[in-house]
Amino acid sequence: MTPAEQIHNLTGKLNYYNQRYYQDSVSEISDYEFDAMMKELIALEKQYPQFRKEDSPTQRVGGTVTKEFETVTHKRPMLSLGNTYSREEVEEFDKRVRKEIETDVIYVAELKIDGLAISLTYHNGVLHKAVTRGDGERGDDITNNAKTIHTIPLKLNGKNIPEEIEVRGEVYMSRKVFEILNEERKSAGESLLANPRNVASGTMKLQDSAEVAKRKLSSFQYALYGENLKISNHWDALDKMQEWGFTVSPHRKKCHTIQEIVDFINYWDEKRHTLPFDIDGVVLKVDLYNHQEMLGFTAKSPRWAISYKYKAESVTTKLLSVEYQVGRTGAITPVANLQPVILAGTTVKRASIHNADEIQRLDLHDGDYVFVEKGGEIIPKITGVDVEKRNPGSKPIEFISDCPDCKTTLSRVTANHFCPNEWGCPTQMKGKIEHFASRKAMNIDGLGSEIVAQLFDAGLIKNIAGLFDLKFDHLVSLERFGEKSAENLINGIQKTKEIPFENLLFAIGIRHVGSTVAEKMARYFSNIDNLMSATYEKLLEVEDAGEKIAQSIISYFAHAGNQEIISRLRKAGLQFEIAPENQTIKESEKLAGKTFVISGVFKNFSREGLKEKIERNGGKVISAISGKLSYLVAGENMGPSKLEKAKKLGITIIEEGEFEKMVG
Ligand code: IVH
Repeated sequence: MTPAEQIHNLTGKLNYYNQRYYQDSVSEISDYEFDAMMKELIALEKQYPQFRKEDSPTQRVGGTVTKEFETVTHKRPMLSLGNTYSREEVEEFDKRVRKEIETDVIYVAELKIDGLAISLTYHNGVLHKAVTRGDGERGDDITNNAKTIHTIPLKLNGKNIPEEIEVRGEVYMSRKVFEILNEERKSAGESLLANPRNVASGTMKLQDSAEVAKRKLSSFQYALYGENLKISNHWDALDKMQEWGFTVSPHRKKCHTIQEIVDFINYWDEKRHTLPFDIDGVVLKVDLYNHQEMLGFTAKSPRWAISYKYKAESVTTKLLSVEYQVGRTGAITPVANLQPVILAGTTVKRASIHNADEIQRLDLHDGDYVFVEKGGEIIPKITGVDVEKRNPGSKPIEFISDCPDCKTTLSRVTANHFCPNEWGCPTQMKGKIEHFASRKAMNIDGLGSEIVAQLFDAGLIKNIAGLFDLKFDHLVSLERFGEKSAENLINGIQKTKEIPFENLLFAIGIRHVGSTVAEKMARYFSNIDNLMSATYEKLLEVEDAGEKIAQSIISYFAHAGNQEIISRLRKAGLQFEIAPENQTIKESEKLAGKTFVISGVFKNFSREGLKEKIERNGGKVISAISGKLSYLVAGENMGPSKLEKAKKLGITIIEEGEFEKMVG
C-alpha cells in the first residue's frame, strides 16, 4: 500500500469507529487498537501532509495551540432572542405574529440548550470555520477547538451539498461529563466548577485544543443558512441538517396552537432534569421562511422567534447560620439556614452542605452571600460564595468539635464527623426509632418524629425494643394522645409482627445496610441466626456486600446492647426468618462457586429472571467485572466498556444460549 492509500484507509476506519462510538455508543474495537491506529495515522500525516484528508480524525484529538484567536466578522449577525416568562407573554407573541402574517401559523418548539452559541461554516461540505458569538457582530475563530467535538461534523454526508452553508448551534457539556470532571477535581483537592455552561464556555476559549478534546464537549445544531437551499421552512432545514450529519435535538415539535406550545413548555419543565444536559428554556420559531421574512428583525432579535425561559435555577441569598444535624448513625451533617429566597418556584430556607470539606471548599464565612441552586436533586445546594459581598471582618465558619446534642467530642473519618456516643446520644437514639418506624422499614403509622421525641423524652421508650412494651394506658395519659390515637399506635406496633424479615433487617438500622442490601442478606442467610453467626468471608459472598458492609454487620451483632434488642424483638414475635415464598428455591448446585455479571437485554429472560436462574443454581450475580469473575453473560445492547473490560481481563463471555445449556 502506498502512504496515500494507508492514510485513506486509516482515516476511513477511524471515522467509522468514531461514528459507531459517538453516535451509536458501540465500541467495535478496543481503546488500545483504536489508539494504535490513531498513532499510525498521526505519524503518516506528519510525514506526508499532502495526503492528509480534510475529515481526518486526528483533528479530533487536538494538539494545536492558538496564542490568540483571530477575530472574524459574522456574515449574518448572531442575534439573541427575546425572552418570555409566562403563558401570557407567549400569547402576546403569537398575537403579534398572527397579526402580521394574517393566516395560520406553524411554530417549531425546541429546547433551549444551556451552553454557548457557535457558528460553523462549511465550504463544499468541509468544515471551514467555527466562530464564537462574540458581540454578535464579530467573534473568535475557534475552529481547532470545535474540531475536537465529535458532534460537529468535519465533512458532511451526501451529495449536492451547497457550496457554502452556515450552521449555528449550541456547544454544551453533558451533566455526566461535568460531574466526572468535578469528582476528579474534588479528589485532587481542587475547587469545584459551578455549572456545565461556564465550563463549556471556558473550555472553548482554551488555547490548547488537546485540552479541549479531553473535556468531551457536545453540541446540537439548530439553524441553517445559505443561498439557494431549496428549503422553505425551518422544520425541513432541521431534517436536512440531520441528513448531512449534524446533530439536531430530537426533542422538537411542530405546534399549531398556543395550547400545544404550552404543553411542550410544561412537559419539558417537568422532564428537563431527566435530560443528560442542561436547558434553560424552550425556543419557539415560526416555521415557514416566508413568514419569517414577513416578520423580520428588531435591532437585537428576530420577530419570528422567542425564547420561553424557565424560572431561575440559581439565586443568591444570605447565609444566616450553619446548623449541625445528628443522624441516626451519629453522622453530623451541616445545614445552612438561609434568608428565604424563591428558587425554581419554591421558597428555599435551608440547603445541605454535606461535610466539613465542603465548608472549606466553599470557604464559607459568617453572613456570606451564597449561590443556591436546585439541580435534579430535591434539596438545594450551595454552589459558591459571592466573595465581593463579604464583610471584611467576617470569620470563616468553623466546624463544631462537640455533638450539638450530647456534647460528646466528635470523631472524624476522612471528610465526615461522627458523634461516637451511639448509646447515649438522645438524637441518635430517636433517629434510630424513627428509622425503625419509617415506611420502607416497619411502616408504623402515626409514629413520626414528633411522637418519637415525645415518647422518648417522657422516658417511655429508650430504643426500638421499647416500642413493644408500650401500653395503651401509658399513651392516653400523654398530651396530644386520645383514646383513638393511642389505640392506633398500639395496633400499628402490633402489626409489625407481620412485616417480613427483609424489612426488619433494614429497620434495625445496621450502618451501611440499606433496604436492598438487607433484602439480599435476608435471602442469602434465611434467618437472623445464620446472619449473626456469619463470618466476615461469608458475608462478603452476598451480592453488593463489600468490606464496609461486612464489617458493619459484624460489629453490630458483636455489641451486647444490640444482642439484647434483638432478643427482645424476638420475644415480641417479629419475623426473624424469611417467608418461604421469598426464599430462593434451589434447582441445582451446577453453578456453585461461580460468579456472573449480567449485561444487556435477553430474549428468554428478564434481567431479574436471569439473575434468579443463576441463584437458583447456586451461582452468584455480582455487579462489577474483575479478574476473579467467572462469566460475563452478554445480551444485546450491552455496554461497550463492560465488554471491553471483560475482554481485556480475559473473562469468559457467554451468550444467552450458552448459559441455558449450562443450567440445562
Ligand atoms: S435560535 C436568532 N435555538 O439561545 C437567534 N437558540 O438568546 C437564533 N440557544 O444565542 C437562536 N438553544 O445560543 C436557538 N434551539 C435553539 C437554542 C438557542 C440555545 C441559545 C443560542 C442563542 C440564545 C438566544
